[in-house]
Order: sequence, then structure tokens, then C-alpha cells
Amino acid sequence: MTDAPVFKVEHVAFGYNNRLVLKDISCDIERGEFVGIIGPNGSGKSTLVKLLVGILRPKSGSIQVFGEPLETFKEWPRIGYVSQRATHFDVGFPATVREVVSLGRVSRVGLFRRRQKADEEAIDRALEDVGMVDMQARLIGNLSGGQQQRVFIARALTQQPEVLALDEPTIGVDPEAHLKFFELMRHLHDHENLTIVLVSHEVDVVMTEVTKLLCVNQELLFHGTPQQCLTDNCLVQLYGEGYHVVSHSHPWTHK
Ligand SMILES: Nc1ncnc2c1ncn2[C@@H]1O[C@H](COP(=O)(O)OP(=O)(O)OP(=O)(O)O)[C@@H](O)[C@H]1O
Ligand SMILES: [Mg+2]
Repeated sequence: MTDAPVFKVEHVAFGYNNRLVLKDISCDIERGEFVGIIGPNGSGKSTLVKLLVGILRPKSGSIQVFGEPLETFKEWPRIGYVSQRATHFDVGFPATVREVVSLGRVSRVGLFRRRQKADEEAIDRALEDVGMVDMQARLIGNLSGGQQQRVFIARALTQQPEVLALDEPTIGVDPEAHLKFFELMRHLHDHENLTIVLVSHEVDVVMTEVTKLLCVNQELLFHGTPQQCLTDNCLVQLYGEGYHVVSHSHPWTHK
């Protein structure tokens, strides 16, 4: 079972209130892949990620997670998830950055166990990874949207997940934080063997970073390498004739 894909998606359909938003989605996400999910607004990207991380259940078709059916899979701490609207998350009390980040440990070790050295170390490391060490005592509610986004990424990292699923994590972050975010993703992918699933509208940036691209518009129009995607002209299918990839360089080298 150790070689089973992280996610095996077969003929999945999903709808809200009987209105189908995803149909016949089939793809595998293997360990160690860096997967970008792109598609227009409302095309079902967030829905697909929510299916992968077990928040939603397919209407038909099946998903296996680490070789096990979604319905019986229990080891969810192996999968870190940062939702598209993570910054709307309300902890219900005036929590500090460090407290919010430490919540990521709860899923791993349970609510009532006292935090131990390993927990504190994981929290320190995650804060450092996202560049929020200096702000750890600040109240989360007083941070900017981009800063909050980084806190939620840190919270997911403290779980020490094998997979990180991020839904538009760079919305509202400034160019420097943006650059650091992709550096962090590359580090986690290249050196810590994380499997990364990233939803983004920054098509040209994503194309340079990922090993696999899923182009979604209700159906999975394309999945393969970014190069194959360009050759097959799938971006035009996805976004229409007027679409051109601006650049294949990194975000900090082009306007
Ligand atoms: N909770 C919900 N109840 C009903 N319809 C929903 C719900 N969430 C999403 N939808 C609808 O499902 C479709 C897909 O939504 P989804 O959020 O997956 O799109 P998306 O590709 O992530 O879009 P965006 O790029 O704007 O984030 C849209 O038409 C949306 O209006
Ligand atoms: Mg979305």
C-alpha cells in the first residue's frame, strides 16, 4: 500500500443542491508531485479540493486516499489544508498568532494532551517557515489579510503533513511574501518530500512551479505537465481565445 497514490480519483461527480458542478473527474496524484489546479471562477476548483480533503463527499464515483476509500480513511492529519477563505476563520476568542498556529497540533495529538517540547518545536519551525516569528504574540484579528494567510499556512504545517492542499494561498500577499511563499513551497516539495496541491489563478507563475497541472472547468479538461498543457493549447480551451501566457519566468522577474 505504500506506493498507492496520495489521491486516486475515479469518475467523480459532485453537485450542490442537485446542480452538478463537477462531472466525470478522474486523475491520480502521486506522492511527491507538485500539482497546480487552474480554471476560471466557479469552475469547481475549490469543490475539487474539498472533495480531496474529505470535507465533501462525491455524489458518484470514488476517491481513494493513500490507497484507502475516502469514506473509511481516518488519518486526516497527514493532509494539511488551507481553505480559500481561511482568513474568515473565527477562533471565537482573541487568540494570538502562536495560539492559532498551535491549533494545528491538536489534530495530530488531540485536544487534551499537554503540549510537549516536540509541539513547541513544530510551532517554532512553522512560524519561522512563514516568516511570522516576530509577530507570534500579536492578536490574529489585528493582522492584515496576507499576514493571516501566512498564519493559516503555518497552522497546517505544524501538523507535519505529508500533503499540503492550498486554495489560493497567495491572494492578498505582497510581492515579497509571494516570493517567499513559492520558495517555501519549493523547499517543502524538494527537501521535505511534501506532496503539494495548489489552487491558483496565477497561471503563468503556477506553470513554472508545478510538476503537474489539472485544468478544471466542471470537467477535467486536461491533466499533465505544464509543457503538454501549452502544446495542447488547453489554456485557450480553459480561458478562451484571448488568453496568452504572459511569461514563464518567476514572478519577481516580470511585471
Ligand atoms: N456551498 C455551496 N452551495 C451551492 N453552490 C456552491 C457552493 N459552493 C460553491 N458553489 C457553486 O459551485 C460552483 C463551483 O464553485 P467553486 O467554489 O468550486 O469554484 P472555484 O473554481 O473554486 O471558483 P473561484 O475561482 O471563484 O474560487 C460555482 O458555481 C459555485 O457558485
Ligand atoms: Mg475557489
